[in-house]
Amino acid sequence: MRTQVAIVGAGPAGLLLGALLHRAGIDNVVLEQRSAEYVLGRIRAGVLEQVAVDLLRDAGVAARMDALGLPHEGFEMAFGERRLRIDLHALTGKRVVVYGQTEVTRDLMDHRRQSGRVTVYEAEDVQPHDFDGERPHLSYRQGGVGHRVEADFIIGCDGFHGVCRASVPPGALQIFEKVYPFGWLGLLADTPPVSPELIYGHTERGFTLASMRSHERSRYYLQCSLDDKVEQWSDAAFWDELRRRLPADAAERLVTGPSIEKSIAPLRSFVVEPMRFGRLFLAGDAAHIVPPTGAKGLNLAASDVGLLARALADFYVGSTAGIDHYSQRALARIWKAERFSWWFTSLMHRFPDTGGFGLRMQQAEFDYLCGSAAAQTALAENYVGLPMG
Ligand code: APR
Ligand code: PHB
Repeated sequence: MRTQVAIVGAGPAGLLLGALLHRAGIDNVVLEQRSAEYVLGRIRAGVLEQVAVDLLRDAGVAARMDALGLPHEGFEMAFGERRLRIDLHALTGKRVVVYGQTEVTRDLMDHRRQSGRVTVYEAEDVQPHDFDGERPHLSYRQGGVGHRVEADFIIGCDGFHGVCRASVPPGALQIFEKVYPFGWLGLLADTPPVSPELIYGHTERGFTLASMRSHERSRYYLQCSLDDKVEQWSDAAFWDELRRRLPADAAERLVTGPSIEKSIAPLRSFVVEPMRFGRLFLAGDAAHIVPPTGAKGLNLAASDVGLLARALADFYVGSTAGIDHYSQRALARIWKAERFSWWFTSLMHRFPDTGGFGLRMQQAEFDYLCGSAAAQTALAENYVGLPMG
């Protein structure tokens, strides 16, 4: 098989890139190791910044998001007994849209099927080759038969555990990483959300987040120990703990029900530099991870592929400037989002090892935020995100 752009991974990064390239008339093939059902079964983030909304619209994949997404003009912070509403719209003129990553992925899958571009699910042993040379290609197997995809470019949209970053000689990349000493236990349920806006809570018992997917579907998170196993958390235990961590008025409104999904995710900050190795480019979780507190993961993946799609379109009309600057441009945005996600995570969680001093610093930081319009504006600007640039 021969194509212009070979994409590894059919998560939101790979599928959105495929859609943007398709719209630009650039042929592309996506290879995914899992089945489509498996990819759709993963429950992940739910907040879209303007940059992601705009790219989905550009790609022609926005109809369901525009109909079903919930525009949010602010969110709440609860710190012990104290509350602070961050009025995103008043502070920045912008909103975010609450629309699940699963739905984004479903819309992109439907769009791709209609576009007629090739997607290979359950591709085994995908390997990138010769990306530093003249004939970049991917090899993979399916049903015991070996295949080869030749391309001008290979794009690694294959997530944190993917093969593309792992195929780069270790000396050619630099890795920056921080692992946090806790995880998030998430639960999805068909119950009405406790509040029309998201509530991020710092409590003595640990962080909590009340989020949603729609007016009928809630998504909640609890900070948990890295040793916790999801099987140890019955639905009843989850709801009890959530009730204890939510502000009293929200706890009173809490409606419980059977979980649709429950999972534990570790929290990590991770960046690889650079994001280009010859004709191999990395995008999304393959190149960077943020802790979910700032809701940046999906949005960064979208802005990476937005930059890449533009760069590749420029390449095919004769300019290499975009692909030459991709890594630098993407990393500039990524480090800003890394800083914000680290800061918000540090403020809102209970750290097992920073003691009384650490807690007082968090309280002082929250006091400062409550008293400073400039600090609230900075938080709001970071939360709604930057234009793609
Ligand atoms: N070969 C083929 N496909 C692979 C391989 C491989 N060796 N390794 C991983 N993949 C696939 C995974 O199965 C997955 O479907 O690559 C895809 C990567 O998708 P995501 O992990 O969703 O990453 P990305 O598309 O960058 O999306 C970023 O999703 O993970 C969240 O928090 C993250 O919200 C952020 C967004
Ligand atoms: C979610 O709804 O899954 C969600 C929302 C906001 C976050 C993280 C996750 O910061």
